[in-house]
Amino acid sequence: MITEFLSLLCLGLSMGFEDEKKNETLTKPYLSALPSPVVEWGGNVTLRCQGHFQNVTFMLGKLQDSGYREEQRSAGHTAEFFLTNLEPKDSGTYFCAYKTMASQEWSEQSEHLQLEVTDDRGKHRAPPAGK
Ligand SMILES: *[C@@H]1O[C@H](CO)[C@@H](O)[C@H](O)[C@H]1NC(C)=O
Ligand SMILES: *[C@@H]1O[C@H](CO)[C@@H](O)[C@H](O)[C@H]1NC(C)=O
Ligand SMILES: *[C@@H]1O[C@H](CO)[C@@H](O)[C@H](O)[C@H]1NC(C)=O
Repeated sequence: MITEFLSLLCLGLSMGFEDEKKNETLTKPYLSALPSPVVEWGGNVTLRCQGHFQNVTFMLGKLQDSGYREEQRSAGHTAEFFLTNLEPKDSGTYFCAYKTMASQEWSEQSEHLQLEVTDDRGKHRAPPAGK
């Protein structure tokens, strides 16, 4: 009888752990740049944020510019932020996060992604005009 009791207890405990696991913290998403994190002046890049839940709101932020904030709702696991006509000032460190309907809190931030917009004009700069 004791073994029966113990196995029931074990079952109960493992079921308890199952429930616990559902309430997981929002683990950080993964941010990547397509096709590449190095972009020419005037080029485009897609920053893809991949999370772990469906139906969430994604945000894209920039470390050097706390005012920069893009948000996007997604029915799937990923959001794609399409950045166009990039300039060297758009270079910097980007990160993303997401929040679920239930949490209403941002997840842990993704690893930082270094975006570099190359300044081609610097390479073959014309001499200053009119001097
Ligand atoms: C999930 O965990 C958080 C923090 O531990 C707690 O505040 C919250 O009430 C839990 N939610 C559920 C549905 O158990
Ligand atoms: C960047 O995107 C814009 C708008 O979608 C498009 O018109 C342009 O051709 C793209 N530029 C490059 C270099 O792909
Ligand atoms: C997604 O969230 C919306 C808004 O809360 C809700 O109405 C909808 O049922 C959700 N869809 C799924 C597939 O969970």
